Amino acid sequence: MAGKFIVLEGIDGAGKSTQIELLKQHPKLKDAHFTFEPTSEGIGAIIRQQIRQELPDYTPQTMAALLVADRLEHLTHPTTGLLARIQSGQHIVADRYVLSSLAYQGLTAPIPLVWALNQPCLDILKPDITIFLELTPSQSMERITARGEALDSFETTPKLERIYQNYLDGIRLMEDDSRVERINANQSPSEVAKSIHTKLQTIL
Ligand code: TYD
Repeated sequence: MAGKFIVLEGIDGAGKSTQIELLKQHPKLKDAHFTFEPTSEGIGAIIRQQIRQELPDYTPQTMAALLVADRLEHLTHPTTGLLARIQSGQHIVADRYVLSSLAYQGLTAPIPLVWALNQPCLDILKPDITIFLELTPSQSMERITARGEALDSFETTPKLERIYQNYLDGIRLMEDDSRVERINANQSPSEVAKSIHTKLQTIL
């Protein structure tokens, strides 16, 4: 039987990393493959340098296409790719996928373009469920500043507001043929984890 493809999404500070760590202890996800986008290799590494503003700007269209190239590599590598793993029955938990491109590249590139570029990825693999950890932009900014780390190029309040809005628009596009669940991330980590478990019960 094919594995399930579970995606976690959310604006910065929503608590994705904490929840992903907790999911590693889920009894049905012991053999799952945990992964993230952008990847850390090849094209993914270039994208990460770009986001940290260590490279000169690419055009918004090029950035959107680079994210798709990294995603296709992540999906279709013949042995370690997500498609091969799913086909062999392994579950996948991914920190970000197509919805992140709609939310973040949608800041600078037209959303219809980002959506069109990503169709080949969705044709290859649609999430069985996308969990959107929902936090308002001001709650997000509070959490980011409390961390005291260097901010990346997306971490300003006006940008977070637009990213959040793009997430909501992106969810409307995605949920036509892929399940998206919104979970209130402004709760304790254990309460959020409980809500995620409940949603996952229906597919695992
Ligand atoms: P990362 O360091 O993994 O942080 P986070 O904990 O927020 O996931 O950085 C991922 C960054 O990549 C994040 O700022 C969003 C951005 N991104 C895009 O711009 N487009 C995409 O399609 C994806 C997957 C991520």
